[in-house]
Amino acid sequence: MKSFLTILLPILLTSFITIPSPVNAWGAEAHKTIGQIAQNFLKPDIARKVAALFQDKSFGGQLPLASLWADEVKHRRGPFGVWSAPLHFLDTLDDPGRSCSVDMERDCPDAKCVVGAIANYTTQLDCANGYDKFTRDIALRFLAHFFGDITQPLHVCGREKGGNEVIITFDGQRENLHAIWDTQMVEKRLQDFESDFVQYSDFLTKNIQNGEYTSESKDWVSCNNSPNSTTLCPLTWAIDTNAINCPFVWDTVDKNPNIDLGGGYYSDAVPIIDKQIAKGGYRLGVFLNLILSKSC
Ligand code: ADE
Ligand code: ZN
Ligand code: ZN
Repeated sequence: MKSFLTILLPILLTSFITIPSPVNAWGAEAHKTIGQIAQNFLKPDIARKVAALFQDKSFGGQLPLASLWADEVKHRRGPFGVWSAPLHFLDTLDDPGRSCSVDMERDCPDAKCVVGAIANYTTQLDCANGYDKFTRDIALRFLAHFFGDITQPLHVCGREKGGNEVIITFDGQRENLHAIWDTQMVEKRLQDFESDFVQYSDFLTKNIQNGEYTSESKDWVSCNNSPNSTTLCPLTWAIDTNAINCPFVWDTVDKNPNIDLGGGYYSDAVPIIDKQIAKGGYRLGVFLNLILSKSC
C-alpha cells in the first residue's frame, strides 16, 4: 500500500490536475473584457460572420469566451499546445526602467512572438487568402486572445521573463509581478464593477464612444490605414505597450522592492490598465469589421 501511495498516487494526481504555470497571459477577466468590448463594436453582419466561424459552440458565438481558448490549449499536448506558448509575448532585450525599445530582429527571431503571430493569423483569417474554414476559425481564436496579450506591458518586456521571476507583495500576498499585472490588479479593478466583466466592458466602451478616450482612440487604430497594416499594426502596438515599462511598471519595484503594490502602485496603475484593455478591445472590433467585411 505504501508503495502504491508513494509511486502511483502522484502520477495519477498530476495526470488529472493541471498545474498552474508561472508563464501566464492577461488573466481570464482581462481577456473576456477585451472580447466583450470588441463584440460591442462589431457591425451586425460581422458579428454573424464571427459566430459562423466558431465551430466550438461553447463560445456562444461570441468573442469573450473564444478569447480564452489560446490559454487553455497552450500547455496541453495536442495540435495547438506547447509550440504556441512563445506566441503570447515578445521578450524585448531592452533595459526597462532606463530604456525601452522593440527590435524585431533582436527580439522576435523567426516571427515566434506575439507580433509575428498577429501578422500570421491575420493572413490566415483574411478570406482573400483562401484558407479553409477550420484554419480561419483557429486564426480568429488566436487573434481574439493575442490582441489582448499585446496590450499587457509585461507581455512586451523580456526583463526577468516579463516579471514572472520577480516576487513581490500585493494586498499582503506574495505573488510574481507578471501575475499581479495579469490577474490581481484586474480583479481588484473589477470589484468597482460588481466583479462583472460586462459592466466593466460597457464602462470602457462608453469611454471610447463618447468620453475620455474618444479623441485618442483614432490613434489606437490608425495603423489600419497603412498598406502594410498586417505587420505594421502589431509592431506599432507592441512599441506602444513596451513603452509603459519604462516610466511605470518597474520604477516603484526597483526603488522599493519591499513595498505592497496593492496601495499607491495599484491606484496609479488603474488608468493604465483601463486604457490598455480599452485599446485591445477597440482594436479587435475595428480590425474584425475591416477584415471580415470582404465577400470572397
Ligand atoms: N515567458 C517569458 N517571457 C514572458 C513574457 N514576457 N510574458 C509572458 N510569459 C513569458
Ligand atoms: Zn496569452
Ligand atoms: Zn501574462
